[in-house]
Parts: sequence; C-alpha cells; structure tokens
Amino acid sequence: MTKKERTNSDWSAARPLLPASGPRRQALYRALRDQIEDGRLCPGDKLPTTRDIAARFGISRGAAVAAYEMLAADGFAEARVGAGTFVAAVVPNLAREGRPPLRNAPDAVAPLPGTLGCSTADATTLRIFRMLMNRHLAKPSARHFHYNDPAGSHALRVEIAAYLKAARGVNCDPEQVIMTSGTQQALDLALRALLKAGDPVWIEDPCYVMARNAFAASGMHIVPVPVDGEGLDVAAGARLAPHARAVYVTPSHQYPLGVTLSMARRLQLIDWAQQAGAYIIEDDYDSEFRFSGPPLSALQGIDGEGRVIYVGTFSKTLLPGFRIGYLVVPWAMRDRVLEVRQLTDRFPSTLAEDALAEFLRDGHFSAHVKRARRRVRAARDALMTVFDEAGLDVEPPEQGLHLVAHLPAGVDDGALVEIAADSGFGVRALSSLHAGPTDKRGLVIGFSGFEPEVLAQAARRFVRDPRFVALSGR
Ligand SMILES: Cc1ncc(COP(=O)(O)O)c(C=O)c1O
Repeated sequence: MTKKERTNSDWSAARPLLPASGPRRQALYRALRDQIEDGRLCPGDKLPTTRDIAARFGISRGAAVAAYEMLAADGFAEARVGAGTFVAAVVPNLAREGRPPLRNAPDAVAPLPGTLGCSTADATTLRIFRMLMNRHLAKPSARHFHYNDPAGSHALRVEIAAYLKAARGVNCDPEQVIMTSGTQQALDLALRALLKAGDPVWIEDPCYVMARNAFAASGMHIVPVPVDGEGLDVAAGARLAPHARAVYVTPSHQYPLGVTLSMARRLQLIDWAQQAGAYIIEDDYDSEFRFSGPPLSALQGIDGEGRVIYVGTFSKTLLPGFRIGYLVVPWAMRDRVLEVRQLTDRFPSTLAEDALAEFLRDGHFSAHVKRARRRVRAARDALMTVFDEAGLDVEPPEQGLHLVAHLPAGVDDGALVEIAADSGFGVRALSSLHAGPTDKRGLVIGFSGFEPEVLAQAARRFVRDPRFVALSGR
C-alpha cells in the first residue's frame, strides 16, 4: 500500500498491537510512536479519529485522546482544526540528535571482568543487608514519613565519625559529616559552596575523569598537575598556579596510578594550602583496601586550620548502587554546604541510611571489609600471575581495587581496550585519563567483583590474542 492510499478507512493495515496490560493511553502512545519512528506511519499520514481508535482497540475515548495529546506534545503528531490528527510533517529524529534509542534499552550492561569500580559485596554482606532492610521496613522509623535533616541520619554520622577517627585519623564531630549521594554529589556540593566559575583548581594528571569533569562543567579553570612516584607534585602545582583556590587529590591511592602521597608531600600540600588560602578536596576512596603495612593518616587529620574537605564513599566498600557517600567539612563551611545540599536534593534516603548505620554499629562493616580484602587480594594475585607469564610491566598494588599495566610509549592503548573487550576483558586506557597529549601508555584494570579464576581467564584470553601480542610492543 502506498502512502497516498493509506487513509482513515484502511489505516488498520498499520494497526499496532497493544500489550495486554498497563495503562492504555501509554500503550497506545508507545505503539503509535514506534510506528512513526520506524516509518510504518509517515509524515502527513492521517490518524484515525479518537472515536474510531477507541472502538478498534476496545479502549476508552479518553485514553485515545490522551495518547494523541502526548504524541502532539512530543512533536510526533499535529492536530489540525476541523481536519483531524496527522503524523507531524517533521518527526523528531532521536537517532540523528545523537540520543540513545529508548526502545529495548537494557537497564545496565553487565560489566566485563576487569571493569573498574565493581562492588566488593559478597553473598554474606547482601544477606545481612537484606535482613537489616527488611527489619527497617517491617518496623519503619518515623523518619521515613517526614522531611529530615539535610546532613543525613545522625545515627549514621556518629558511626562514620567514629570509624574515620579510628581507621583514618580523621578528626571530626558527627556534625561535620554530611551524607551525600556518593563522591560525585560530594564534589558537586563542595565546589558549589566554596568556588566560583573561573577559579583555578589543581587536578592530578592523570586523574579521576568524573572529578575533573565536575570541576570543568562548573566553569573552573582546570590546572593539571603532574603525579610522580610520591603522588601529586606539589612544587609543580605551586609553579603552575600558585594562587589556585582548591586542589582535588586522591592521597591514599592516586587514581589511576595507585601511588600514595608521601608524608613529605602531604605536609608540603597542607603548607601551600594554608598560605594560599586554598581548599584541599581529599578523595579518600579505596583507603580500606590496604594489603600490607599501615595506611598514612588522612590529610584531614594532619591539617589544623580547616583547609581540608574530606570525601568518602561506600561505593567501593559496599555497592555503587547504594549511592551513599559523605563529606567531612570544616566547621566554618558547614552551613554553606548544608544550604546547597538542601537545595539540590533535600536530604538522603532514610531507609538505606538506617540499615547502613546498623551495619556499621554491629560490626558487620569491618567484617565485610576483612572478607573483601582477602577476596580482592586473591583476585589481584590471579591477575598478576597472568601478567607475569605474559611479561607485562605491572607493579602489584599494595592498596586499592585496580592495577596499572604500563606499556611502552607509542603503543595504541585505546586500540588495546577494544581488543580486550573482544576477549571479554574490561580495561581502560591510561592515556585517556591524562589531561592532554601524553606519551604515557598503559591499561588500568580492576580486580573487584569477580572470582579470581574468572578474571584470570579473561586476562589470559586477552594477552594471548595475537593482536595484543602484535600491538603491545613486547
Ligand atoms: C577516584 C574515585 N573516587 C571516588 C569514586 C566513587 O565515586 P562515587 O562515590 O560517586 O560512586 C570512584 C569510582 O570509580 C573513583 O574512581
């Protein structure tokens, strides 16, 4: 049937099927929109009257009217007075606008072994959490039914302050702890409360791209500062931007290189911040996963002048999906940060907070971290065995959940990422984490979230791929 021939009376040839259940207007909207998007209904085609469509589909006329209104509002149809409703002359082209197709989009793509940032929660942790969540749902606290403190649950903040003092040398009162939706919101709140567009900010180079992007998107002037074997090169930062307003740093375990900021550099950084009146934003991610020796104290505990904003997260220690992180802020900036927090999303999810507070209070968290540390260490060792066999230059990390395989300058590490994906191995190119052109090449590889043998198998497939052997310059 040609487009011209298709009229109101024979429209049923293109008749879509509606799913058996669910709201009728949504189903009709979706079905018609699908037909418009894939070309079965063409620009200018007349759609049947709402009376006709209600009769054909056995739905109410109100549902048909609502579906047509939704199509018109989204630009897929247009109503012409006295003539009826037509497919719009210019249909929004989602694909051409670069938007991902909405249909059949999977909720999430299952990560490949090697992917960074996978959860460390095991079956025991999940079972305990389920039990705690169920308990809090069965006997819900009054907090769930009201609007709450923007800083988050007081009980949870008490637990976090005690944990940070004991484990990380962080000096704080529970009132200085502000719960956030992960590190990402913590960074956003800190920069909104303390900085303004154009402010120079030191960012490690290479760095955690999500942090750099957060600062850049808010109009900060990004100053990439090199990282060497002792962590952030503070002297280089002071040369490049002596009057920077802030520095974002990962001292426990530099992302992505994995080095620890030395004590000499810690003192030098705090000195500079105090003199420059700058803030140090300390992202202490992964500090819980240390495999040997005691960790160095957090910068927050060394600084005596309120220059450090400490950021922590449960994404690595528990589940990224909890979206639970926190800030520890100096007293002087607490009100400002809370004001911004309240404006951006009122207060955190109370149910998850209650379960987590109990998880910490009853010792489940430290037991979980101990178990997780053993598991990820075994996974790290399994990967190391494969890389040693393959003759790759990899230093076994003494902390954290990822390692870096350094490659000779000139190797196309971006191409290796694609070859790895073909082997079912998820890796990241080191060069992509640098602020600009660099001769540094390597692969950043996670070892959390998968059994050691699963990781090792994927890594082995990758290093045995002839394209890897040819490209990696070994
Ligand atoms: C350096 C760094 N900090 C923090 C995080 C955690 O981010 P969030 O707490 O927003 O999940 C990650 C996750 O990959 C990271 O790499």
